[in-house]
Amino acid sequence: MLVLGIESSCDECAVSIVEDGRFIKSNVIATQIETHRPYNGVVPEIASRMHTEMIIDVVREAYSEAGLTSKDIDGIAVTSRPGLVGSLLVGLSFAKGYAYSLGLPWVGVDHIRAHLYAAHLEREIEYPYLGLLVSGGHTIICHVESFDNINVMGTTIDDACGEAFDKVAKHYNLGFPGGVAIDKLSKSGNPKAFNFPGPSLHKGDHRYDVSYSGIKTAVINQLDQFHNKGYEKSPENIAASFQKTAINILLKRLDRAVEDTGIKRVVAGGGVAANSYLRSEIAKRESWEIMFPPLRLCTDNGAMIAGIGYHYLKRGEVSGFDLKASARVPGFRKAYP
Ligand SMILES: Nc1ncnc2c1ncn2[C@@H]1O[C@H](COP(=O)(O)OP(=O)(O)O)[C@@H](O)[C@H]1O
Ligand SMILES: [Mg+2]
Repeated sequence: MLVLGIESSCDECAVSIVEDGRFIKSNVIATQIETHRPYNGVVPEIASRMHTEMIIDVVREAYSEAGLTSKDIDGIAVTSRPGLVGSLLVGLSFAKGYAYSLGLPWVGVDHIRAHLYAAHLEREIEYPYLGLLVSGGHTIICHVESFDNINVMGTTIDDACGEAFDKVAKHYNLGFPGGVAIDKLSKSGNPKAFNFPGPSLHKGDHRYDVSYSGIKTAVINQLDQFHNKGYEKSPENIAASFQKTAINILLKRLDRAVEDTGIKRVVAGGGVAANSYLRSEIAKRESWEIMFPPLRLCTDNGAMIAGIGYHYLKRGEVSGFDLKASARVPGFRKAYP
């Protein structure tokens, strides 16, 4: 089965054709980074307008890159939630009209489940496993029983991990997207220059939860308080020290989740899963079986959408034309049992 996958939940206009949920025939990502860079963040109105301008060309490019035509496609999958509603609506409306005109089955899929599915595009992965979803909008530690049966164990109680990277980078003008800029700068920085604090979240049902507002405030407003004498207050040192604490906040909870569940198979996804410090630190857990998507499938892409879409379509699940785009996943925790 060949599925065309459309992703437009934020500022990437991405289309891909994937066979049988595994084999990528094409994966086109038209990014809007240069347009949003002057604002040091994604401007929703500009993002949705650019999706309308880009989407047809990106679909055409996905066909030509795969050497296929619409006659070869068996179904369509599109991100319907969560995300920027204006951006989501462009992909969703296009998918509905296109499926209707071709008489093809289509399905709206969840961006978060799709990020966790991305690593499956590279290899067969057995269930169950622990999922680590870290992006600009989400930070989730979860128990994954199947592609659509996910039990959330921990989330963020305030900012998402990627969001904290972006806000620190924006404050110090380190570059856009912030996570990429901080990752790069950190390579020539000293993580010992500042001792930024992690959250004290461990009691009761916060055992796997994270919080990033504290470290964000510490880096932005209380730099001197956490500065270690003898180290330069350089952007590289700020970046490296922030990154160390930000990633260790995640890993501390993940260590607990592995310990408590006994599950040592860990699958990561989302833009922050591209982080080189996260990858090198997690690799120190030698007894774990760790799977990351390749860098190009960590940030938003259409292949993860086409890949997970295949499993719904194969099960005969199709969406109705009344399906709405939604910014959030209602009842976060409950939404995944
Ligand atoms: N190498 C990296 N290190 C840390 N964060 C990163 C890295 N690459 C991307 N990011 C962060 O990932 C987030 C984008 O994630 P992505 O899943 O593509 O988007 P979204 O959050 O819209 O779903 C941004 O916050 C970005 O800064
Ligand atoms: Mg994403």
